[in-house]
Amino acid sequence: MVSFSLALSLILCLIGIDTTSCCIFRCTAEGPWYDFSAYTECKPDPEPPLYNGGILQSENGEIPMAYDTTETGAHRPAFVLGNLTETTRYSFSCWVQIQGTDSALIRAVLATDDSKFRCVGTTTAQNGCWSFLKGGFILDASSKTSVLFLQNTTNEVDGIEILVASASLQPFSVEQWEMHQQDNIRTKRKRMVVIHVSDTQGNRVIGASVSVQQLAKDFPFGSAIASTIVGNLPYQAWFLERFNAAVFENELKWYTTEPQPGKLNYTLADEMLEFIRANKVVARGHNIFWENPSVTPSWVRNLTGDDLRSAAKSRIQSLMSRYKGEFVHWDVNNEMLHFDFYEQRLGPNASLEFFGTAQQADPLATMFMNEFNVLETCDDVNSTVDSYISRLRELKEAGAVLQGIGLEGHFFTKPNLPLMRAVLDKLATLDLPIWLTEVDINHIFDHQTQAIYLEEVLREGFSYPFVNGIMLWTALHPYGCYEMCLTDEDFHNLPSGDVVDRLLQEWETKETAGVTDDHGLYTFSGFLGEYKVSVSYANKSTETTFSLGRGDETKHLNVQL
Ligand SMILES: *[C@@H]1O[C@H](CO)[C@@H](O)[C@H](O)[C@H]1NC(C)=O
Ligand SMILES: *[C@@H]1O[C@H](CO)[C@@H](O)[C@H](O)[C@H]1NC(C)=O
Ligand SMILES: *[C@@H]1O[C@H](CO)[C@@H](O)[C@H](O)[C@H]1NC(C)=O
Ligand SMILES: *[C@@H]1O[C@H](CO)[C@@H](O)[C@H](O)[C@H]1NC(C)=O
Ligand SMILES: *[C@@H]1O[C@H](CO)[C@@H](O)[C@H](O)[C@H]1NC(C)=O
Ligand SMILES: *[C@@H]1O[C@H](CO)[C@@H](O)[C@H](O)[C@H]1NC(C)=O
Ligand SMILES: *[C@@H]1O[C@H](CO)[C@@H](O)[C@H](O)[C@H]1NC(C)=O
Repeated sequence: MVSFSLALSLILCLIGIDTTSCCIFRCTAEGPWYDFSAYTECKPDPEPPLYNGGILQSENGEIPMAYDTTETGAHRPAFVLGNLTETTRYSFSCWVQIQGTDSALIRAVLATDDSKFRCVGTTTAQNGCWSFLKGGFILDASSKTSVLFLQNTTNEVDGIEILVASASLQPFSVEQWEMHQQDNIRTKRKRMVVIHVSDTQGNRVIGASVSVQQLAKDFPFGSAIASTIVGNLPYQAWFLERFNAAVFENELKWYTTEPQPGKLNYTLADEMLEFIRANKVVARGHNIFWENPSVTPSWVRNLTGDDLRSAAKSRIQSLMSRYKGEFVHWDVNNEMLHFDFYEQRLGPNASLEFFGTAQQADPLATMFMNEFNVLETCDDVNSTVDSYISRLRELKEAGAVLQGIGLEGHFFTKPNLPLMRAVLDKLATLDLPIWLTEVDINHIFDHQTQAIYLEEVLREGFSYPFVNGIMLWTALHPYGCYEMCLTDEDFHNLPSGDVVDRLLQEWETKETAGVTDDHGLYTFSGFLGEYKVSVSYANKSTETTFSLGRGDETKHLNVQL
């Protein structure tokens, strides 16, 4: 009986009579689809649990909860989990409310039977309403008995009570996870195209030869470059064969362009920009200010009050008037979740003012925040996804217009893909452009491991529908690279370079050719970008170009012979 109903579902699904049958079939055969839902408002009531609670749901449909009572008598909600496996991607979510204080950063932590503790997700919880926590984990080894609990980030539970509702833990196999990625790529990075071939009288042309070639890719995928690329033809050729986007590693930073007060020197940036312009590469502007005092020019560190304010204003005016319109983005105030050089000296609104001045100076550039340890981990209390969201909201409320979300992506642990996706889910609710801006894998890992982790991060980033571009942080110097190189100094690939080359190939449309069918149609599926189409029939031929931009519908193109 079971196999009969499954077969029936499959047929109904395939012939399109009942699409809910597809879910029955898909759900039994492949498990549930990833749920991209996320919430960033504190709500009077929690939403229902994702996946009906997933494996937290018991047979009677309830979500069990254990309470661990601490010495101080406070409750720490915890879930005891049996038999977690290392091949599984676990997606966790719940709603959190606290009592005993107005607001606190709450962290979900997993303790496994190898005595490791790992952060699963965080939320800024409040008193009197429910906040959504979304994250997840991947294990290094299976764990027979594990405990997933919620804690105040300071670890000293002095009277805060944490309430949890609508918790859910959903496992996905590696295959399921990849299938969801492929599905997003198919629907968001590619599009179906139908080419209609007719003659000037409007007759269909059957059997016309059509060939399609992708000329350029829409998705900006690039790398940091350094001034080492200037005049270095092998480096230039290597770069241009691969990438359509760039960012200058250090050459626009204040310490480079104005090493001494008033001694402006844009030589390196100008030379690099010539290379960019000559080759139709898109460039991000990085950065106007950097809140880390140790990378602020030493003469600026000596300034206070009006002197600093006026130096900062001159910096924006000088940089932006020189390069107005040349850079698609500006990182206005790098790493402002971790450092606060300008706020300390100019008051809490310093960054708001910088964003405003920069936007006025270059109104068509998107003004970015750029931050580490938002995507990479949830262990860093300074850069939680919720703290990033609240800073972005502050900027918007203060009148910021074109805003962007920069996620550096300097990974120093095995990538936690479910956490990465959950963080993106929350950020995506803001409806702002999201870029991975500085992706690399720490050099504590050997080349092979760097390559494996890099592939995981790039696949997750590229397949995430609201990621608009990816930059690697792999500028090449005679001494090597910041954390990770793609090649040796002679441009022979390291394993991570092989990964990048393989993915670049996978994410472009191969040249295709064929003949029009009985309706005069030629159909293909292509990655978004620029295309050239050549059509010929008998003694006639024509050539045309078109753009395949984002869209939910099939693209139709008419070609007349
Ligand atoms: C874990 O697996 C063992 C062995 O397969 C089984 O005996 C045990 O019941 C499982 N525990 C849970 C909580 O599922
Ligand atoms: C919990 O976190 C809050 C805010 O981060 C902190 O002020 C407090 O000391 C911590 N301990 C508790 C539970 O109050
Ligand atoms: C400007 O920078 C370039 C490149 O670093 C350097 O060669 C040149 O001497 C600098 N110019 C001045 C006036 O300092
Ligand atoms: C900064 O100030 C200190 C102390 O006033 C002085 O010794 C130093 O030369 C100054 N540095 C710069 C770069 O102006
Ligand atoms: C986090 O911020 C606090 C206060 O701004 C600072 O003392 C601490 O060093 C920061 N931690 C990191 C990891 O940047
Ligand atoms: C900062 O800006 C906000 C909103 O624009 C304003 O209400 C507030 O007074 C400003 N604070 C300071 C210290 O200037
Ligand atoms: C193309 O072929 C058609 C008939 O098949 C003929 O009438 C026409 O003159 C040819 N045109 C050229 C430019 O050779």
